[in-house]
Amino acid sequence: MTHDHVISAKSLSRADIETVLDRAAEIDRTPPDRDRHADDLLALCFFEPSTRTHMSFETAIKRLGGDALDMGPVESSSATKGESLADTVRVVEGYADALVLRHPSEGAAQMASEFVDIPLINAGDGAGQHPTQTLLDLYTMREAAGDLADLTVGIMGDLKYGRTVHSLAYALTKFDARQHFVSPESLSLPRSVRYDLHESGARLKEHTDLDAVIEELDVLYVTRIQRERFPDENEYRQVAGEYRIDAATLDDAREECVVMHPLPRVDEIAPDVDATQHAHYFEQAHNAVPVRMALLDLLLSEDDR
Ligand code: NCD
Repeated sequence: MTHDHVISAKSLSRADIETVLDRAAEIDRTPPDRDRHADDLLALCFFEPSTRTHMSFETAIKRLGGDALDMGPVESSSATKGESLADTVRVVEGYADALVLRHPSEGAAQMASEFVDIPLINAGDGAGQHPTQTLLDLYTMREAAGDLADLTVGIMGDLKYGRTVHSLAYALTKFDARQHFVSPESLSLPRSVRYDLHESGARLKEHTDLDAVIEELDVLYVTRIQRERFPDENEYRQVAGEYRIDAATLDDAREECVVMHPLPRVDEIAPDVDATQHAHYFEQAHNAVPVRMALLDLLLSEDDR
């Protein structure tokens, strides 16, 4: 890894990604010494709700022997007094060795990273990017479905506002995987993302109907409609409840098809899928720990040099 900050999957090379995934596999097999990063503190600055990302980063740093410093809820932070994000991260830089930032504004992580020298990790910037989710998504795919380059991946749901989708699509393109995007027209990929993918030679097709591709998929990555990003609640209601799958939907899928979801799910995946051999989303959430441990280990070790 040659990165100080992890902002977008666009700037992670295939080699960077493989380095993290290989290190995560190693950590999964042989947990590192409990005091490997005993002096390291990881700041968690979450300006938007989070369960998995927040808790798995905290678990990861603690399992490496370090500790987490949590900014706490936005309502009790100085942001409510009008402090700028640039000032907040400059202050936090003095307390911690690395910083994890989640923010509702697209571009916030990039902007904030320009004010700090410690590694800044983007844990989601509005409808922009969520690169560490992608790392654990790819890890799960590699473990459950095989070589990323050979995969045919269907990505379904909110492709417009879903930041996990944008990061995943950039990364899958680096592996030359085949990608099928399935969504209502109104929630298809943002023009800028589509442009970037085409520019980098992505093998992609877009569809409005899962039936058109379900039989071909090695992986079906389902996403939540990002209600909080809709400017108009009526627009949300028009698409809510579409693009959900249940066990019967998967009758047409390959037996080995791996169903994933970054979670939280609302109703996109019916509970009857949970008991099928397809369901991999809880395992995916658990993979966050070795993958984020691997990433922190690489970033913090680099920092020591
Ligand atoms: C995702 C996010 O925050 O973008 N959640 C996560 O980090 N696992 C997906 C979502 O909220 O739908």
